[in-house]
Formats: sequence, structure tokens, C-alpha cells
Amino acid sequence: MVRSMPVRRFKRGFKLGLIKLLIGNKAAGVHLSYVGRGATDDLCRRIVDIGHTDVLVVTDKALKELGLAERALAGLVEAGVNLHWYAGVDPDPTFAHVIEGRQALRSAGCTAIIAVGGGSSMDAAKIIACTRSSDEAPDKWVGMNKVPDDILPIYAIPTTSGTGSEATMGAVIKDPVEKLKHIIVAEGLLPQAVALNPDLLVGLPAPITAATGIDALTHGIEAFICIWDRGTRKENGRLAIQGVFRWLEQAVQHPEDMEARQGMAVAAYHAGIAINQVGVGNVHAIAHQLGARYGIPHGQANALALPHVLQACLSEAETALAELAVVTHVSEAASPAARAQAFVESVTDLIRKVGIAETDPRIQSEDWETLAHAAMDESDGYVSPRLLTKAEMLGILRDISVS
Ligand SMILES: [Fe+2]
Repeated sequence: MVRSMPVRRFKRGFKLGLIKLLIGNKAAGVHLSYVGRGATDDLCRRIVDIGHTDVLVVTDKALKELGLAERALAGLVEAGVNLHWYAGVDPDPTFAHVIEGRQALRSAGCTAIIAVGGGSSMDAAKIIACTRSSDEAPDKWVGMNKVPDDILPIYAIPTTSGTGSEATMGAVIKDPVEKLKHIIVAEGLLPQAVALNPDLLVGLPAPITAATGIDALTHGIEAFICIWDRGTRKENGRLAIQGVFRWLEQAVQHPEDMEARQGMAVAAYHAGIAINQVGVGNVHAIAHQLGARYGIPHGQANALALPHVLQACLSEAETALAELAVVTHVSEAASPAARAQAFVESVTDLIRKVGIAETDPRIQSEDWETLAHAAMDESDGYVSPRLLTKAEMLGILRDISVS
């Protein structure tokens, strides 16, 4: 059901007030991060020092078969830690993956979980970590602070640079029947420590590097331009955006460039810290629907929507976008409106340069109405510069569909 704009504004104001009351004064989370070519060894030492002897590794089949996950965790094996595996995570994990992971976790009696992979593995690992003793159906945990209290400690080793899940207390789980993506948030889902090792990123194909990089850019921008001035969301957002502008093209064109890979890993991490404080926005509200309905990879879906959403919010987000134009060296025009416009154009340009198409043939016109409603519903909970109308949502869907 589509609510009127005043009702949507009231609903958003109420939600924001409630969130501010509940978490506004809390730190957005503190954890350790190791960066560089020795980062995974450092993380392994940390896990050994804490005293874990049996850990569950959550990853996908390809990373397990390639031996990449094993190489990353060699330090644990050398120290005598027993690795138990759940290597069944697929893109866009579902509650069925969580149940499978729960079986692996319990049969081995693990005391910690290590996610090795992209956002899907990290998100699945977070929810599997909640199943240590609870037999509750995990779909009951959708929303904020609904997971059980005894969450296992989570450690993250990202093998893509985009999701930011390594720095957030949220996880996205797909319901394949309803074709919806659900978000589960709880403080205990924030990984205890993370290793950002560029060696694990060099094999990432160019299209995935590009799409995940635009996901990170979207996180940085949505946190930077939002209406909730909380914590360090602006500083981390800026560092993320500057990092993506500096390193993404290079990482796409020169996959083995360690400096570019590390630059992107750090950018995505900053973006994760930024959204962990204020959430995402309209771009994600649209992208989640495209991912859930058509399986369009998350970063690619963001890349489709991002320029259109920014253009729609140009006037409300003008000051922030104009500031971004300066810090990314895109424009120093005297007029803020000109600088903001230049920044949006530079984002469009970057998406093009890294090879992501501006339209997608999978989006069907008969679904526009449903997609627009679902995106509006999701966006009502976000602190974006403003809510988009149904006509605007439909316009964006039309623009990113193949006519
Ligand atoms: Fe995202």
C-alpha cells in the first residue's frame, strides 16, 4: 500500500526519533582492523592469542576449492587450531544457508566464526553466529536487536572491496519465496576484528571489482549526504569516496596492483564504518528490490540507481555534494549548485569507465509498480536527504530498464 507523503514523512520522523533515542548516543562499534599483506597472519595470531581452538570458517565453494580460504588461515592451522567448514554460501544468502551453517557450527562445537569471502559469506556468518544455542527460526530475527544474546565472536576476512559488512552490525538475508531482502541488525553482529589483505583481492575479476567498488562508493555517498549527523559518518564517508575515486579504475584495469587493491579495501572498510552509523538510503532501497527480484548483483544494482537518485536529490543534498566535488578534485566552481552537478556527473562517468551498463534488460516494465512500492516502503526507514515520490521511483525504474 502506498502511503501519502505526509504519512511517510511522519513515519520516517517517528522512526528516526526512536532510533536516536535508542542508539543515538552509543558508539557505532569498535573493533580491530589489520591492513596490508600480513593482515591475515596478524588476525590469525589474534584469534590464537584469545584461545580459540575450534572455529567455523564460513565461505563459498569457489574460495574453498581454490584454496584461498585455507591459505588465508594457514596461521591458525600452524598454531593447532581446528578449522571446521561451512563452504556452502551462495550469492544473496538465504535462511536455508543459515540453517545449514548452524548444523556445521553445532556438530563441531566451535567457539568463534571466521567469514572468508564477500558480503554474502560475511552476512551468512553473522547470522550463523546467532544460532549457537537457539532453535528459533532465523527469519524471526529480521529487524533491530531481535537476535539471541549469545552470539559467537565473528572475525572477517573480506575477499571483495565493497559490501563493508566487515565493519557493520547488519546482515542482509534474502527470502527467495517473497523475493525480498531482509535486514538483521544487532550490536553483536559487528565483527571483533578484520583483516584487509590485498593479496586476497588480486584474483577478483574486473566486473566484480567494478560493481563492488560502486557499492562502496554508494555507501560513502549515502552516509555523507544523509540528514542524520551522527558520529564520524561524514569523515569515514569522505575517506571512502576519495578512496574509490583514487583507486577503483586502477584496480579494474590493473587487477594485480597491490596499492590499488589495498586502497579499495580500505575505502570499502571506511564506507562500512560510515553506514554502520547512519544506514543507507534511497539507492539501496531500489537496489535491494532489483537484487531480490532479478538476482542483479548488489553493486551493479546500486550503480544503476545511484546517478538517478543523486540527480533527484540534487537540491536537498547540494551542500554535501558540492563539498564532495571539492574533496575529490572534480570541481572548484564558485557556485555550489555547479559543483554538486559536476560531482553527480563524475559519479556517472566513473560508473561508465569501470564498465557497468546504465540499463539492465532483466528489469521488466510489468514489475515497476511492485518494485516502486517495495522501494518506497524500504526507503521510509532511511535518513536520505528526502523521500522519493512514487512517480520519481517509477521514473528511475523506467530509466534503468531497456526500452
Ligand atoms: Fe550496499
